[in-house]
Amino acid sequence: MKDQSSSVVDLDVERVNELARNFWYSAILRAAIKLDVFSLLEGVSLTSQEVASGIDASPRYTQSFLNCCVVLELLDSDDDKYTNSSLTSRFLVKNKPGYVGDHALHHTNTWASWGRLDEIVREGKTLLPYDTGFVDADTYWSDYMIGQHNRATSGQAHYLVKSLDLRDKRKLLDLGGGAASYSIALCAGNPQLKAVVADQKEPLAIARPLVKESNLENRITLLEGDFFQTDLGSGYDVVLISGVVLIKPEEDSRQLFKLAYDLMEPGGLIVIQDYMRIDHDSQRNRLDTLEDLYVLVAFDPGAGDREGKEVAAWLQREGFQNTKLIGLPTQLGVVTGEKPA
Ligand SMILES: C[S@@+](CC[C@H](N)C(=O)[O-])C[C@H]1O[C@@H](n2cnc3c(N)ncnc32)[C@H](O)[C@@H]1O
Repeated sequence: MKDQSSSVVDLDVERVNELARNFWYSAILRAAIKLDVFSLLEGVSLTSQEVASGIDASPRYTQSFLNCCVVLELLDSDDDKYTNSSLTSRFLVKNKPGYVGDHALHHTNTWASWGRLDEIVREGKTLLPYDTGFVDADTYWSDYMIGQHNRATSGQAHYLVKSLDLRDKRKLLDLGGGAASYSIALCAGNPQLKAVVADQKEPLAIARPLVKESNLENRITLLEGDFFQTDLGSGYDVVLISGVVLIKPEEDSRQLFKLAYDLMEPGGLIVIQDYMRIDHDSQRNRLDTLEDLYVLVAFDPGAGDREGKEVAAWLQREGFQNTKLIGLPTQLGVVTGEKPA
């Protein structure tokens, strides 16, 4: 019989084991957000027993759970007490400007779809989170839209506003504007600008209170309906299409660019903001590669993470000129074009 103890153990096997266990990390993050552990531990140190009472949970499970949060650097621990790590304190405490917890819930709402990835790849189909029974449609829409808003308020909106010169623009159409996040930021940054946000019923229900909170109700109009089927008005000198190209088939994006062109005044500016391959560094390539599969899994079988140059070429084919690719320090890039004057 072969002596197993003398064979060399290949420690690379741990890389496979680690990949297999990776979803535990997402589960721990998701649960901590849903249990609202991070609000409880902001600025204070508590024992696991105190946390268990605070979140009305099993003491034994809570202790084990908190120790895992420490291992994942979501919490720090000292003398049997736990508190938020600096990362958590910046990004996972509700009501702080950097909060991205809803975005994490949105990502993890696709859990059951990813769990059936073999079937999805074989059949070339999308499996929407509320069709798997993992979340209901209302939860899906609210986490999705508030999650997109988290992304905007945690930095993306700041960089979009900085990257565009809209000083001579008066009327913005935000196609698929979702929670109105970028219309809010662009109007706040450009006092002469008014905006129309066109989207479906569910996103606009999330947008309404956010527009009110930002005191921009007199400058931002919400227009409900399918953007291909609704009268969207006229007189626009800037059109924003953010987060839509990624989740749509090429034909839809090009149809949307044509629509924008027709609705726009001569000399108008089109702005596409999305996951797009603009800067080809390895970290971005890794995420763009994963995003490409994510949108096929959870949005549309025709969706895809595009090359910025390809999107610029689609704009040019619809008549836009002077297209520019603008890489931002965040994950989303920008492509702009102008309708001839
Ligand atoms: C990823 S979200 C982006 C939301 C927002 N623009 C942002 O960047 O945060 C895509 C949005 O496009 C909207 N959308 C997709 N197809 C649409 C259609 N046919 N008519 C109107 N809105 C649509 C969705 O409802 C959703 O709010």
